[in-house]
Amino acid sequence: MDNVSNAVHYIFLTTAACFVIGLHLMNHPRTARRGNTVSAGAMAVAIAATVWLVAHEGTISTTGWLVLASGGLIGAALGLYAAREVKMTAMPQLVSLFNAVGGGAAALIAVNDLLQADHPAALGARVSLPGALDIVIGAVTFSGSLIAAGKLQGVVSGAPVAFPGARLLNVLLPASFAAGTVWLVLAPDSLVALYGLVAVALLFGVTMVLPIGGADMPVVIALLNAFTGSAVAMAGFVLDETALIIAGMLVSSSGGILTKLMADAMNRSIANIVVGGFGTGDSAPAAEEGAPAQVRSVSADDVAIQLAYASKVIFVPGYGLAAAQAQHELGDLAKMLTDHGVDVSYAVHPVAGRMPGHMNVLLAEANVPYTRLKEMDEVNPEFPQADVALVIGANDVTNPIARRPGNAISGMPILDVDRAKSVVVIKRSMGHGYAGIDNELYTDPKTGMFFTDAKKGLAELKAAVGEFVG
Ligand code: TAP
Repeated sequence: MDNVSNAVHYIFLTTAACFVIGLHLMNHPRTARRGNTVSAGAMAVAIAATVWLVAHEGTISTTGWLVLASGGLIGAALGLYAAREVKMTAMPQLVSLFNAVGGGAAALIAVNDLLQADHPAALGARVSLPGALDIVIGAVTFSGSLIAAGKLQGVVSGAPVAFPGARLLNVLLPASFAAGTVWLVLAPDSLVALYGLVAVALLFGVTMVLPIGGADMPVVIALLNAFTGSAVAMAGFVLDETALIIAGMLVSSSGGILTKLMADAMNRSIANIVVGGFGTGDSAPAAEEGAPAQVRSVSADDVAIQLAYASKVIFVPGYGLAAAQAQHELGDLAKMLTDHGVDVSYAVHPVAGRMPGHMNVLLAEANVPYTRLKEMDEVNPEFPQADVALVIGANDVTNPIARRPGNAISGMPILDVDRAKSVVVIKRSMGHGYAGIDNELYTDPKTGMFFTDAKKGLAELKAAVGEFVG
């Protein structure tokens, strides 16, 4: 190894350490931004070092450099534009699209490597095995993430899309790409094996994600993120590129841990979700017999009186808070109540919103003290002591129907909002949440529905509470 190669390998080692430090810093909201900067800076250095090594080895033609530079510039410009312009509520779709692009790019690297090899038949398993795995994982991630982004954007139905034989197909397709992988490893020059593998993997991505709906999408999104990392790591083996291997494995393992945490939090099994849209609801929700349930509508003044005279209030934020961008109003209201001596906390469900940590990010934007955020297991025993549970744009994560079998969110642990002494829900209508089912909380006699946009409603509440406490 000459001096430049040596130097580049030391740079890779340092950047790998920075990736790990960056991930560690992301453990806490206070340091997360710095963690992001450290990891992104390390990746920029790793890319520069790779370019230096390639230039030093002189293996790229002038056309190659032009393609590299224009691809890098166009990609960076699009990424920067998308990241700066995206609305907070569209962030999950963007992350899903980034997953798709990462997986697709990794798969293309392996396809290109196999097509361009001088003697593909002579490629050893050291290249053909990671190459085949890269194609499978990358292509599944590409098509699966596109469907997931479509579901989150509402372009594809968020409800489970069932078709006859879906479960059987989801068992047969992995079996056929396992066979295709072996075929390609044994015969890396077979174009039938190569293109067949790409096609089957792309199809599996679609059939895996389409039937998943209800409460299971968060797990799938985390899983696809882990897949992207694995595909990138495999591409690193194909290219013999240390930085890619390390970065890919870190994404893969942290995505894997996140998937497990999400699945545990949702009381789901990853295998069941992937194989057959478990939790999609085998039958209609078990409705209670009897007279149609009544909905009690309340005004800002009604709610303000309750809040001003409460000793303990729990805020329950959900996707609607993000959609309305009402986090600052909520933070202000909390401050007014806290200054008035009310004990205020925020109940954060692991899948509230549309991406992991969505509510934490949102509330951090409004400078809500982290000590007031409580996770589900911590806050659930506190609901019976709460004078008011104020639900702001949350729906599925509060729906008591999850405690019964036979519906789209059966078995999903929920925030025990219905156990509070009094409940107020801010939302615009009786419309459904992501899982598409009625919420029994809204017809509970102790629930008052404050039908309004979250931002407008919270501003009115602030004004009304001000009259009582101010
Ligand atoms: P949802 O169940 O999706 O309900 C959100 C509610 O917000 C809706 O019922 C809507 O009712 C209301 N809303 C929308 N815009 C509003 C506005 N401007 N002002 C006031 N309310 C507004 O939300 P959730 O309780 O947070 O549950 C999350 C759901 O998304 C779960 O089913 C979860 O599985 C799924 N999911 C989560 C993730 C992750 S990782 N977090 C990813 C994918 C899917 P109105 O239209 O009547 O106002």
